[in-house]
Amino acid sequence: MAIIVNSTSTSLKEYRLLPGLTTEFSSKNNVNLQSHLCRSSNGYLTLNTPFVSASMQAVSDTRMAIALARLGGVSVIPVLPDEECQIAMVKKVKQYKAGFQTDLITFSPDAQIYQVEKSKYATGYSTYPVTDNGLFHGKLLGVITDKDFDAQTDQKVPVVRRMKTELVVAKEGTSLMQAKAIMIETGRGFLPIVSAEGTLQSVVFRKDLEHHIRFPNASEDQYGRLVVGAAVTTHPQHRNRISHLINGEVDFLVIDASDGYSEYQKETILYIKSLSDTPVIAGNVVTSEAFDYLVEAGADAIKVGMGIGSGCITQEEKATGRGQAAALMEVVNARDKLVDEGKQYIPIIADGGLSSPADICIALALGADTVMMGNYFARCTESPGEVHYRNGQAFKKYWMEGSLKARNLGRYFLGDSEDNQVDYFAEGISGWVPLKGSIFDLVPESCSKLKASLSSAGCSSISELHENSRLEHQSSVALGDSAVHSLIKDNDIV
Ligand code: IMP
Repeated sequence: MAIIVNSTSTSLKEYRLLPGLTTEFSSKNNVNLQSHLCRSSNGYLTLNTPFVSASMQAVSDTRMAIALARLGGVSVIPVLPDEECQIAMVKKVKQYKAGFQTDLITFSPDAQIYQVEKSKYATGYSTYPVTDNGLFHGKLLGVITDKDFDAQTDQKVPVVRRMKTELVVAKEGTSLMQAKAIMIETGRGFLPIVSAEGTLQSVVFRKDLEHHIRFPNASEDQYGRLVVGAAVTTHPQHRNRISHLINGEVDFLVIDASDGYSEYQKETILYIKSLSDTPVIAGNVVTSEAFDYLVEAGADAIKVGMGIGSGCITQEEKATGRGQAAALMEVVNARDKLVDEGKQYIPIIADGGLSSPADICIALALGADTVMMGNYFARCTESPGEVHYRNGQAFKKYWMEGSLKARNLGRYFLGDSEDNQVDYFAEGISGWVPLKGSIFDLVPESCSKLKASLSSAGCSSISELHENSRLEHQSSVALGDSAVHSLIKDNDIV
């Protein structure tokens, strides 16, 4: 006979945080939401805002990824049917003007002025490095800007005759703040960073530094570029895509599977690890055995959640899944057990079923380090979904990855080939969510509420919340009392 597990699946919405002593140290202004996303080669990849936008076509495109990374979170670019398109999105985020740029259009000395002019019209850029071989990482010889030539008469003049060679450069290892000081002192708007041999490494534009002043929490790599992840599948025909994403300097990979407890997932982790030290997030899982299996295989973080996404029909169709609170409690216990045995801390990402700061707070208190959300971000102006107006209210399209609209076979077809499309059936639906506004308003507002919750619980950080918070399961009557009751809302009586 099958084993009947002696527990009841519970949802995040059934728990409440009990207040703890709020001290000056844990007052709202002193609460820090920094948290680990995953292990990395030099410790952990850490986010200042513990929010991850789901690897879904309705949620995470370039625009969302840039916006969320500026706010301190991170996006996972989904497995798009077109490999080139997914890789281009990752590159676009990495090349977003911020901090040190490592991939500017560059000219060789014998290029002609008309080529510079043409590039200016095509891209809008007016400043270009000139290197011996015309490649960005060549030996720096000069800089040409649109002010150095006459667009009418100089068309056929070689760049070498017009470029400026009296350059102010900085050495490799210069920090952004040092770069800013040099640019202010020398009155330059453009600072090339070169190696000891004179090879161009990166460049800094003064106007981009404003970005750092406005978004001090931004998720950035060691070069000041925004951080972005990409989803990959376990299917062998996607192996090339994995290496192309790694070459495109993606910061981490997420293995996309609705059920991550599989040998395919282990093989994919081992394959990625054999190529590079790019962090790998595996999942999704809802049990301790699955967590242990993927950690043993080398996963750098584990995603938890099955059958609880807002538009998910997996539980109805396949009867597999688990309440997010029950899943988190079991998996967090397994993680803590490993730590007690002296093993490394593995970050956990709560994925699915989180749509409000209250849900996020409970997931974090139960031991998640970050939260992955689809529905929450789909409501933002910055999400890719189209806008639709009905009865004076604006809605955005939100479709699940397993819906007929997305047909993400890589994710919703467990096996080693996605050619057999006959076996495919939908595990998600497509629908509408209310348009809430810009992510630049929504995320700070949610963070403010989260900080207030942590402060009430007497905690000044997410790690303190993990260790010290007390949660209580609510009866359905208590839950009824926790919402508006015995009162008719203004709008309902008009
Ligand atoms: P939401 O934030 O509650 O909308 O959940 C988003 C999460 O649902 C994603 O990060 C996925 O883990 C999961 N998901 C996405 N598409 C599907 C689907 O078609 N079926 C089931 N789960 C899905």
